[in-house]
Amino acid sequence: MDQFLLDLHRIRKSFFGVKALDGVDLEITTGEVLAVLGENGAGKSTMMKIIAGVYQPDEGEIRIEGRSVKIQDTNHAQALGISIIHQEFNLIPYLSVAENIYLGREPMKPGNLFINWVKMFKDTEQLLKKVGLSVNPKRSVSTLSVAEQQMVEIAKSLSFNAKVIIMDEPTAALNDEERNKLFYIIKELKKDGVGIIYISHRMEEIFEICDSIMVLRDGKFIQRMRTVDTSKEQLISLMVGRQLTDYYPTLPNAKKKVRLEVKDLCVDDSVKDVSFQAYKGEILGIAGLIGSGRPELAKAIFGALPVRQGSIFLEGEKVFLKNCKDAIEKGIALVSDDRKGEGIVLSMSIEENLTLANLKSVLRSIFIDKKKQKELVERNFKALKIKAASADLKVEFLSGGNQQKVVLGKWLETDPKIFILNEPTRGIDIGAKAEIYQLMKNLVEQGVTIILISSELPELLGMSHRILVMHEGCITGEFNKDEATQEKIMICATGGENNGAA
Ligand SMILES: Nc1ncnc2c1ncn2[C@@H]1O[C@H](COP(=O)(O)OP(=O)(O)OP(=O)(O)O)[C@@H](O)[C@H]1O
Ligand SMILES: [Mg+2]
Repeated sequence: MDQFLLDLHRIRKSFFGVKALDGVDLEITTGEVLAVLGENGAGKSTMMKIIAGVYQPDEGEIRIEGRSVKIQDTNHAQALGISIIHQEFNLIPYLSVAENIYLGREPMKPGNLFINWVKMFKDTEQLLKKVGLSVNPKRSVSTLSVAEQQMVEIAKSLSFNAKVIIMDEPTAALNDEERNKLFYIIKELKKDGVGIIYISHRMEEIFEICDSIMVLRDGKFIQRMRTVDTSKEQLISLMVGRQLTDYYPTLPNAKKKVRLEVKDLCVDDSVKDVSFQAYKGEILGIAGLIGSGRPELAKAIFGALPVRQGSIFLEGEKVFLKNCKDAIEKGIALVSDDRKGEGIVLSMSIEENLTLANLKSVLRSIFIDKKKQKELVERNFKALKIKAASADLKVEFLSGGNQQKVVLGKWLETDPKIFILNEPTRGIDIGAKAEIYQLMKNLVEQGVTIILISSELPELLGMSHRILVMHEGCITGEFNKDEATQEKIMICATGGENNGAA
């Protein structure tokens, strides 16, 4: 059978004159997992939204099982057997898990007047079981962690019995165990003949789960190949359009001066008696699984969570941080892992978001100095290579990776002495990642202390002078750069033999 499950031809789409897609083709057959690769802003999500009926293409043809179709809207796409897990979640926070999954197509009691809640909760339970998530279907989505919300999104897309499932960065918020569960589900779906379009910036995942790969660059189709016929290096140069050297830069040695000291710190039940020091010009990595207390530790140092016990010293001086404002004034910045919840205001422009944490520097008495603001924005566009038509664009219209760059830029502008980065490169393409690593190097050269929290072990190993490992709120290991390995870290992170503790 040489008929495609889904094929798109010469798709074009512009937003306010900016070409997001410039004549792109895509084909997928039954049981195929197709990776769509490309830098931030390459057009991946736009292409997927066209398939899912969110956007109409300006030009081009879409065929499902050989038949030409015009997808009217998202409901129509679903009816045609297309389901999408969006890069930015679409769940409604104050509704329950079950209501979110069956929104707009709730099972009804005979007579069609009342919702059959019993059936809805039971069906939801079964779907959740399939994705291995054990939460009550009645629970409000707002009480779930980002990873749990992602699992709900996945459960929801399974509930449609779709022929084509689009996964736009489904693993960005998942830990290894959850990711393995997802990969198991993908393999099952493959057996059922479902076609899966898979978007991820994590190269290892592409090689693990995808049969074929297509590369986009600047809205253009570059190449399509089978996974077995290509290599990471080839893909990177196709994506970036150049060879990447120096992925992890060589870091200068840290200074001998202690910048931050944390002593016997306790936060709620999530951080227990944590003590460590971080030096001037040092990148201190913190490894650990989800639930190990890393974000809570970060928030406590940033004044965003109350300290129950213990103390924090900045350059030898004990500090009491009542809130984030105190922390910012003392030169502490935090890039949160929850970009949408804490990092950025989607309805505000890039310019407004960039100035948000740093209004003081652009104020002239009580007015914003437009010239200074413009300089600030230009500086960030250049330093972070933010890709957008204009700085007046609302952040919600930026590609996922470019949103993350705006968050980074916002905090860089506060000129921090201690920069806490929680998953700073999540959703960021490989070329931009290398740029952010270079930026981190420049910061430590200037004496900034960076605390790097990351679930990507290669990133932690490549970019830290020292790595602490947390497990259930405690520090269970400490390694210098030259002695750290993925295996040693994993042992400590799972609470195993404590062979690295200082
Ligand atoms: N609704 C919109 N309005 C204006 N511009 C848009 C809109 N949607 C996308 N764009 C622009 O189209 C381009 C492609 O964006 P898209 O979200 O498809 O990128 P992507 O490949 O998914 O990137 P990422 O890896 O960062 O998620 C970007 O320049 C983006 O700013
Ligand atoms: Mg995207």
